[in-house]
Amino acid sequence: MSTPLDKKSTNAQIKERFDNDVERFSNLETGQQAVIDAPLMLDLISDLAPKIVPGARTLLDIGCGAGNNTIKILRSRPGLDCDLLDLSDRMLERAAERVRAEESGEVRTFCGDLRELDLPAGHYDLIVAAAVLHHLRDDEDWLRAFQKIYDLLAPGGALFVSDIFFHDDPQVHAAMWARYGDYLRSLGGEEYRQKVFDYIEAEDSPRGMTFQIELLRRVGFAQVDVLHKNSCFGAYVAIKPKAD
Ligand SMILES: C[S@@+](CC[C@H](N)C(=O)[O-])C[C@H]1O[C@@H](n2cnc3c(N)ncnc32)[C@H](O)[C@@H]1O
Repeated sequence: MSTPLDKKSTNAQIKERFDNDVERFSNLETGQQAVIDAPLMLDLISDLAPKIVPGARTLLDIGCGAGNNTIKILRSRPGLDCDLLDLSDRMLERAAERVRAEESGEVRTFCGDLRELDLPAGHYDLIVAAAVLHHLRDDEDWLRAFQKIYDLLAPGGALFVSDIFFHDDPQVHAAMWARYGDYLRSLGGEEYRQKVFDYIEAEDSPRGMTFQIELLRRVGFAQVDVLHKNSCFGAYVAIKPKAD
């Protein structure tokens, strides 16, 4: 990845791409095709969320897309009040419609950038951020976003992240991304691999899982567990300490 951070896609460009891609994100069985192990990560998060926070009542889905993660979590823990957040109003519309068709509590939508939206502090028992944090840019951006997420969680609440990751060591990085290239080629040939790599280059700025775990600890998360890692995709959970 060689595009400087200030030359990456703007929010308006990101919103436009996702506005036109609602259908692809509305399939619960496949999740997103371009994400290795998307269905497994959906399963892991929805299985663990009610176990890690047994009394959970409130959920925030950051970059909810068409709502897949919220829907899966509601199926293992029905009745949650769900706040859905996304840059794309079309994604949000679809997510709200699909989530309301499940056994949910109150459903609210928040349209905008996760870094800018005003949300209730200490309110959420569960926060999920799937395939969205890779839109954060420099170190400061990541630190502020993690601090904000920590503040939004209730004591004992948990953040679940699944995403695409970079790696610290260049050899590890090259090997993992070559494997991802092979995966994309097996789905749609070289043209598909190039298309996905091109939009990642233009739009995304993923960071390492270890970088993220260090930041999470810095902002106060006491426990962080890696749930999954395969090639450049993975998932983790970070738990806010319970109040004394
Ligand atoms: C790759 S999709 C993932 C959707 C969903 N989480 C899933 O796993 O199916 C990323 C979503 O994040 C949204 N998004 C991107 N940048 C965002 C930002 N800064 N704030 C809020 N949402 C954002 C996009 O509009 C898009 O719907």
